[in-house]
Amino acid sequence: MEPKKKKSKLMWWSVPLIAVLALTFYGCPSQQNLSGSSDAAQKVYVAPGEHDEYYGMFSGGYSGQLPVYGLPSGRHLYTVPVFTQSATNGYGYNEETRPMLMTTHGYVPWDDAHHPEGSQTDGELDGRWVFMNANNTPRIARIDLTNFQTAEIIEIPNSAGNHASSFVTVNTEYVSAATRFSIPMDEDLENMDVPISSYAENFKGTISFIKVGDEGEMSVDFQILVPGFNYDLSHAGKGPSEDWAFFTSYNSEEAHTLLERNASRNDKDFIAAINWRKAADLVADGAGEDIPGEHYRNYMDHDQQLAKSELIETVRVLDPAEHPGIIYYLPTPKSPHGVDVDPTGQYIVAGGKLSSVLPVHSFEKIQQAIENEDYEGEIDGIPVLNYNSIVQAEVENAGIGTLHTEFDGNGYAYTTAFISSEIVKWSLETFEVVDRIDTYYSPGHLMIPGGDTRNPDGKYLVALNKITKDRYLPTGPELFHSAQLIDISGDKMELLLDFPTDGEPHYAQGIRADLIVDNQIRFYELEGNNHPDAVKTESEARVERDGNDVHVYMTSIRSHFTPDNIEGVKVGDNVYFHLTNIEQDWDVPHGFAVMGAQTSELLVMPGETRTLVWKPKKVGVYPFYCTDFCSALHQEMQGYVRVSPEDSDVEISYRTGTEG
Ligand code: CUA
Repeated sequence: MEPKKKKSKLMWWSVPLIAVLALTFYGCPSQQNLSGSSDAAQKVYVAPGEHDEYYGMFSGGYSGQLPVYGLPSGRHLYTVPVFTQSATNGYGYNEETRPMLMTTHGYVPWDDAHHPEGSQTDGELDGRWVFMNANNTPRIARIDLTNFQTAEIIEIPNSAGNHASSFVTVNTEYVSAATRFSIPMDEDLENMDVPISSYAENFKGTISFIKVGDEGEMSVDFQILVPGFNYDLSHAGKGPSEDWAFFTSYNSEEAHTLLERNASRNDKDFIAAINWRKAADLVADGAGEDIPGEHYRNYMDHDQQLAKSELIETVRVLDPAEHPGIIYYLPTPKSPHGVDVDPTGQYIVAGGKLSSVLPVHSFEKIQQAIENEDYEGEIDGIPVLNYNSIVQAEVENAGIGTLHTEFDGNGYAYTTAFISSEIVKWSLETFEVVDRIDTYYSPGHLMIPGGDTRNPDGKYLVALNKITKDRYLPTGPELFHSAQLIDISGDKMELLLDFPTDGEPHYAQGIRADLIVDNQIRFYELEGNNHPDAVKTESEARVERDGNDVHVYMTSIRSHFTPDNIEGVKVGDNVYFHLTNIEQDWDVPHGFAVMGAQTSELLVMPGETRTLVWKPKKVGVYPFYCTDFCSALHQEMQGYVRVSPEDSDVEISYRTGTEG
């Protein structure tokens, strides 16, 4: 089908790139299809009390969190705190979860989260975990889908800007990471202090493979040393290509300033094709070298419901020049961004930001070219395959500024075009465009549930748009981003729904609800709570002084705290409120807040213990209260702490329910 010509209506943000491209193509959105239809409304309507068909796990971008939406309704169900402190439940503020945010840069309570990826078994989503990368201070988190909490965060050493992350291999053997910003490393591969202008000679990149254990525990298994390009995105292979992973790079020019221009000179950059299986086998046999690579691994100790940190000092590194066969470069036009592998594992699609065509590499051809040593060059020991030998097709008219591709499992691919603000559907048989739909405005990633797995659910597509403008009631200069749900079950794509999204969603995962719902934890068994500061009955509740530290071992149950009157605290004390919620029922959290506290509240789930540290600055009597409306007598759920002068001789005392 011939793509429809539209009246060109270029927007301001497209002008610089258009100038670079010097292309005239399809314009930005016309005003068609703006209001949807009642038919569309019915397709996204989830009646009161009914549940959505999918969980949509969206990255929060610069919020650092993982907002969760129901699909197709677009209802915001929950936000999992991951890389950023969350006052909503005290994550990163309370003593139990603070260690999750430890790094070699100290305590880092924020990050820029990009790509959630569900764990897979045999190339299909299995509903166990979601991994997500931190772009700024390189880290990967694992979110446990039995309780929607962050279970582990591992730091990635020898890396700066962890963007090509966190994509999994077919059985979640590994999660990927790579340097977006290359870093200076000396001959011993230690970080060094050199002029930025020595980039070409001193800066290197690393591509990291993080091993995932049976219980999800992560470890940096090995890094592959690569030239100092910017490694951008990745996806693992599947089927015939399942032992391989693919990483796009840009800035093969190795520019270090004004990349907008200086990294846009080469007609082609590279996809790094890595035989991770071979590299892993080599490492298991002792290959490679241990180099400095301090990094933290932070994990939730399930027994104690308490996060712990461990510091790991070295990392194993492989030099491709010494280990032929682990990595090849696939020339790819031009400054490629996304790299996506179709459900059969045969085709590797690159989104060339500055390319006029969408290149599709063939895995079979790549294997042939490797066998025939059909190389057009070599960079730092990495063979560069001959472009014409490996490319299967160049999709024409796939839009301007193509970024990312997902698949429907029915032989079609869907690609976002940022500048022409559309999603383009094309055939994996003819490599011709068969349909296109405008998006509002400028999509980055897109998501089809299971769309990057062996077995996509080709029913809905979500466009994750970068620019919102006039789509909703305005909220001043700062607007939420906008997602659009598109029906892809027929020949023609149909826009069903807009919904605003918190933060800046980059990638997302749609996971069938039935893979997750049955495994939900509804509350924590009090009996299994082995937190060292837990108190499981009111009779164990107490207050103890230890020098300047005062420990309050407190319980909560509808609708009181034990104890609720505390005296003997002094200015200069560190008061630890260790609160155990002794309820044993679903959806009965209790909160805790005390006047003047310099952290957030605590929100404590039934059976759980959480600790707030309070350093009272002034003499007085301070109220504390439950922050979560837990019962009709929630407002009565309160208490007082008396704070005396530093030199006071008021002894510690505490009580509940005793007047006078
Ligand atoms: Cu407990 Cu409100």
